[in-house]
Amino acid sequence: MRSWLFVPGDSEKKLAKSRTSDADVLLIDLEDSVALDNKKDARSITSEFLKGSSGKAPSQSIWVRVNSFDSGLLEDDLTEVMAAKPCGILLPKAESGKDVTHLGVRLRVHEAINAIDEGKTRIAAIITETATATLNTGTYKDCSNRLTALAWGAEDLSADIGALEKRNVDGSYRDVFRYARTMTLLGAVSAGAVPIDTVYTDFRNLDGLRRECEEAVSDGFIGKMAIHPAQVPVINEVFTPSNAAVARARVIVSAFEKAGNPGVIGLDGEMLDRPHLRRAETLLAQIRSLGSTQTTISRAT
Ligand code: COA
Ligand code: MG
Repeated sequence: MRSWLFVPGDSEKKLAKSRTSDADVLLIDLEDSVALDNKKDARSITSEFLKGSSGKAPSQSIWVRVNSFDSGLLEDDLTEVMAAKPCGILLPKAESGKDVTHLGVRLRVHEAINAIDEGKTRIAAIITETATATLNTGTYKDCSNRLTALAWGAEDLSADIGALEKRNVDGSYRDVFRYARTMTLLGAVSAGAVPIDTVYTDFRNLDGLRRECEEAVSDGFIGKMAIHPAQVPVINEVFTPSNAAVARARVIVSAFEKAGNPGVIGLDGEMLDRPHLRRAETLLAQIRSLGSTQTTISRAT
């Protein structure tokens, strides 16, 4: 789940184009990229696309970003798209874990109506789009067995707090946005969900995107949302653990096994304890979840 490509749900052209993308997740959008007058058309275009699609690669999944609870549009979104059985639903403007619990209940109803196995539809949420939401990022633990990923967003948060700028002159995020980003990372890990970094809107600037991806990987994010197909190869490359990192993780796991799983071991003159083992196991789990894509994309170092 490295790359999550947003595709406006009312654009047949972009939906067609998205079929050629190597994004791990296609995120068909019914929310911010669709004008109010187009919401109805977007629902039916999205449903048709879902019915006619399986992902480009077997590992690619197709999700739908619905409108928020307070929009009054969410129930109609679900009624139409759940009939087309998306892999998951991305909830924008989640205010706390309770919103995810509530969405899970609604999905249960739509799964029953559409003969989908109960619990099959996954949930991801964007959890920093208001000041209140940002203060509630620690509330997602145990909110739903469906919860898969948590992401943060800067655009709506800046509108909510009246921030004039999101970034400093050197391109780094200003404090309040760094706080939202950090709290999403911690909230996701604490909830057992995959932390996903927000979009990079300067979509022609692939060097800037790469720098932001590298920073996100260093901090512990597992993937990043994209708004343009050209961003996907960069995200996939940077978020794929390097061959060297995978090999090292395998050595660490096997060294612990050989030693009978103690609390601490010495390996090549370095002290390794349980957090090192956990990190190695997490990385190997990430590689397994990438499946076949890992064999074609791999960083040099
Ligand atoms: N998904 C699928 N296809 C896309 C796409 C996307 N997100 N963004 C662009 N494309 C397609 C274009 O239709 C065009 O297709 P073509 O080669 O068949 O003509 C091709 O990719 C190149 O696009 P380009 O001309 O570089 O960009 P654009 O000016 O058409 O579009 C945006 C720029 C920002 C409007 C567009 O990338 C977009 O709609 N992004 C998604 C926005 C979104 O969902 N926002 C909500 C989340 S923040
Ligand atoms: Mg938004």
